[in-house]
Amino acid sequence: MIIKSATFVVSNTKVSALPLPDMPEYAFIGRSNVGKSSLINMLVNVQGLAKTSQRPGKTQLINHFLVNEKWYIVDLPGYGYAKVSKSSREKWEKFIRNYLTKRESLQCVFVLIDSRLEPQKIDLEFCSWLGECQIPFALVYTKADKQSGPKTDQNVAKFNKALLGWFEEVPPFFITSAEKGQGRDKVLQFVQEVNED
Ligand code: GTP
Ligand code: MG
Repeated sequence: MIIKSATFVVSNTKVSALPLPDMPEYAFIGRSNVGKSSLINMLVNVQGLAKTSQRPGKTQLINHFLVNEKWYIVDLPGYGYAKVSKSSREKWEKFIRNYLTKRESLQCVFVLIDSRLEPQKIDLEFCSWLGECQIPFALVYTKADKQSGPKTDQNVAKFNKALLGWFEEVPPFFITSAEKGQGRDKVLQFVQEVNED
């Protein structure tokens, strides 16, 4: 897919105030600092479109970006940030779960997993919850430039294997680096195929 345009549309704290669900939508979610905003910028090739930060917890809102005037990318706040209070964590969960379960134009959730880490319980549980709710998702392994290819493959294999405890087959998955542009074509092709379905 060729990206002709990518623009910021709106930030929201309320599901009721989201843009009309009149175009296919893809949400990006994962632990704080896993690289959601960086991946979005890499995919659309616009540096700084989604705000990134070295400090976890940068993205606090549901942010809609319109791509090629045809589909939405949604940047979501991260989960699992230890310094967040219990009450704001619960608020986050309610809000995000509400969005993910109710948004009729949502085609697929990209769950971002740090490719440097062993399988994390919080990621596995989140995937399992998506499965229970029958929300389609794909895995995006991030920051692959930070270690050797074989090490990435090892962690990817471990996580995919751990998922088989919950799922009959491994969901679609992509190995990416926002730094190097790795995985860009494959993720965009996947979106194109889903859009054309
Ligand atoms: P929150 O919005 O806080 O949940 O974070 P996020 O998941 O949106 O992460 P963000 O894109 O802000 O990136 C977090 C940090 O990781 C930044 O310092 C990025 O530069 C860095 N980073 C993200 N992706 C990559 C990558 O592929 N390679 C490398 N080397 N660094 C990355
Ligand atoms: Mg972010």
